[in-house]
Amino acid sequence: PQFDLVIRNGQVVTAADSSRCDIGIRDGRIVALGENLAAGRDEIDADGKLVLPGGIDAHCHLDQPMPEGMKMSDDFTSGTRSAACGGTTTVIPFAAQEKGQSLREAVRDYHQRAEGKALVDYAFHLIVTDPTDKVLKEELPELIREGCTSFKIYMTYDDLKLDDGQILDVLAVARDEGAMAMVHAENSDCISWLTKRLLAAGHTAPRFHAESRPMLVEREATHRVIALSELVDVPILIVHVSGSEAVEQIRWARGQGLSIYAETCPQYLFLTAEDLGLDGYEGAKCVCSPPPRDKSNQQVIWDGLSDGLFSIFSSDHAPFNYDDPLGKKPGGQEVDFHYIPNGIPGLETRLPLLFSEGVNKGRISVNRFVELTSTNPAKLYGLYPQKGSIAVGADADLVIWDAGREVTIRNEQLHHDTDYTPYEGMQIRGWPELTLSRGEIVWGEGKPSEAIGRGRFLPCGRPEMAKPRVR
Ligand code: URP
Ligand code: ZN
Ligand code: ZN
Ligand code: ZN
Repeated sequence: PQFDLVIRNGQVVTAADSSRCDIGIRDGRIVALGENLAAGRDEIDADGKLVLPGGIDAHCHLDQPMPEGMKMSDDFTSGTRSAACGGTTTVIPFAAQEKGQSLREAVRDYHQRAEGKALVDYAFHLIVTDPTDKVLKEELPELIREGCTSFKIYMTYDDLKLDDGQILDVLAVARDEGAMAMVHAENSDCISWLTKRLLAAGHTAPRFHAESRPMLVEREATHRVIALSELVDVPILIVHVSGSEAVEQIRWARGQGLSIYAETCPQYLFLTAEDLGLDGYEGAKCVCSPPPRDKSNQQVIWDGLSDGLFSIFSSDHAPFNYDDPLGKKPGGQEVDFHYIPNGIPGLETRLPLLFSEGVNKGRISVNRFVELTSTNPAKLYGLYPQKGSIAVGADADLVIWDAGREVTIRNEQLHHDTDYTPYEGMQIRGWPELTLSRGEIVWGEGKPSEAIGRGRFLPCGRPEMAKPRVR
């Protein structure tokens, strides 16, 4: 037969269009789109279903080396399995440099953690924590040329943060080499100062995590890094934007014609700071940074998703077990809020949550859904058009989506290795029925594929969106 696989009669959705047609797949790629395609060796009937480009989760943390006493609960196997079961076919976790470590060494180590373990394809962002001369002049430019074309920098966390001078230095490399810089924007000194005072007053419960990081610390750092990006004249992407005050800064920057991109995450749509205060210590499950805000800020985030302010919707999956004798998020042994590891799991629930409450409730179109969760991530990080669309020549990374399927989220039905989901018991509508990675089924009939190790490392191109403005 002409095709290895034909998917028939689905409603094929891209960021631009929706049309009912067949998809012909050969050697892992899409080779034909049309009506009444010839027979394939295998055939899938997608009548009544949507066919979407596979999700790209461009912000997730898997098997990242952690300080003493903390361990991430998902590695490349459980993380990419969970991703596939939730309709995501590409993940971009972080190769993080430790202070004092060579950046190249960090990447080498991270390749070892990934090799032979992934179910779907993956690329790497770098995390630059120690911008020595060698990093700025040799390692970072070389790694960008070798296909790690994006990196994250932190304005907070003592073991990760850069000062403004260091941020300018790395942004200058992003400009020279055409890389995308992602920024975690929170004012570190304000957080430390507030934390000290809260602890001194005996306020140690999880809910004080939110009080130690009010919106103004995010607003100030967002404003500051926008200025740094303007000075260097290079686009940046602000990750995990939580609410109105950061959004206002980004709207202002856009109004000035600056190329400031923004990401948000499910926790800022579906959780609030009140969730950190529930049932004694249970609130530890919802500790992440920036913290979830309130209902009115959830609305601000929805507005930004629908009106174009946000370019990308990622999970920020940062998995730590609640009952971990090693870790510090344990149900039994309570720790002061500033010891609780930051981050919550969300790889598998990212697409269903946004589809249910966004598309099915009429807040965003299905095309915008695809743009936010697949097409823009591919464009922002140099994977387009191999990933992120349904087009002739693209990888056959596809999701057959059942828009009407009713699901109650239960952690026991998810496929990560984390012992909770903050969305336990939530009732939603819409779930992936089948996920294909390069034409192979990685999730179907309610089961993940066992072909662990088939996922490949993806070298990224220089993202078009990271180019400075032409003037
Ligand atoms: O709380 C969070 N977001 N933890 C993960 C690390 C990060 O800053 O993205
Ligand atoms: Zn590499
Ligand atoms: Zn962050
Ligand atoms: Zn993160």
